[in-house]
Amino acid sequence: ETAAPLLVAIDGPAGSGKSSVSREAAGRLGFGILDTGAAYRALAWAALQAGVDLDDDGAVLALLESWGFTITMRGEQWVTVTLPAAEGVVPSDPVDVTAAIREPSISGQVSRVSKHPEVRERLNAMFRRIVAESGLPGVVIEGRDITTVVAPDAPVRILMTASPEVRAQRRAGELPGLSHEQVLADIVARDAKDAQVVDFFNPAPGVTLVDTSELDFEQSVGAVIDIVRTARKAA
Ligand code: DC
Repeated sequence: ETAAPLLVAIDGPAGSGKSSVSREAAGRLGFGILDTGAAYRALAWAALQAGVDLDDDGAVLALLESWGFTITMRGEQWVTVTLPAAEGVVPSDPVDVTAAIREPSISGQVSRVSKHPEVRERLNAMFRRIVAESGLPGVVIEGRDITTVVAPDAPVRILMTASPEVRAQRRAGELPGLSHEQVLADIVARDAKDAQVVDFFNPAPGVTLVDTSELDFEQSVGAVIDIVRTARKAA
């Protein structure tokens, strides 16, 4: 029997550096990384493919019962989705959606599936199972409600933030062709929608705030690793 992995829970808004910093810190610690946003994105992708109404919680739940989802937790990220069988049609082979789930069309739709409380509960159960069965010494799990809902007892809990302007700048670098104003407006709009479901701007009691507005990538990774090392020494 293997011990449960050490959990590092990281929440924060888009463009805070959360995803890339979490991934790098996990690699250096020898831990796995679970990107929960990728699961919400994959679900939105699957619903659109299957012709499921994203606003219909019952239909999205039914899709969750019958789809297949896999995600890598080490090395390069790789996400696959198996679409359920339709009438008289066999289930699809796993489809590589690694790139498709990053399209702006998915970013713009994903809040429609992530707003359903029962969908969140079902995915949270899946996240806990993936972590428990990972067999890894530690897992960095990142999202919006990890420090508060998915893993409130994690020994390390971090809220990573940055000012909206800095976040827009970072995102603009990833989305050539869009103006700073457009990217900023998109970020502010998506945050406002997502924040109606979970508060990821204010750290819950016991959660360490890491503001990366004035930190570069290397300094942000260092800040996370320092917090993990300090927590391990205290344990
Ligand atoms: O982190 P991201 O941009 O890939 O997340 C995609 C969407 O999924 C985001 O708009 C909010 C939602 N999400 C969520 O509601 N809860 C999580 N734990 C992770 C993501």
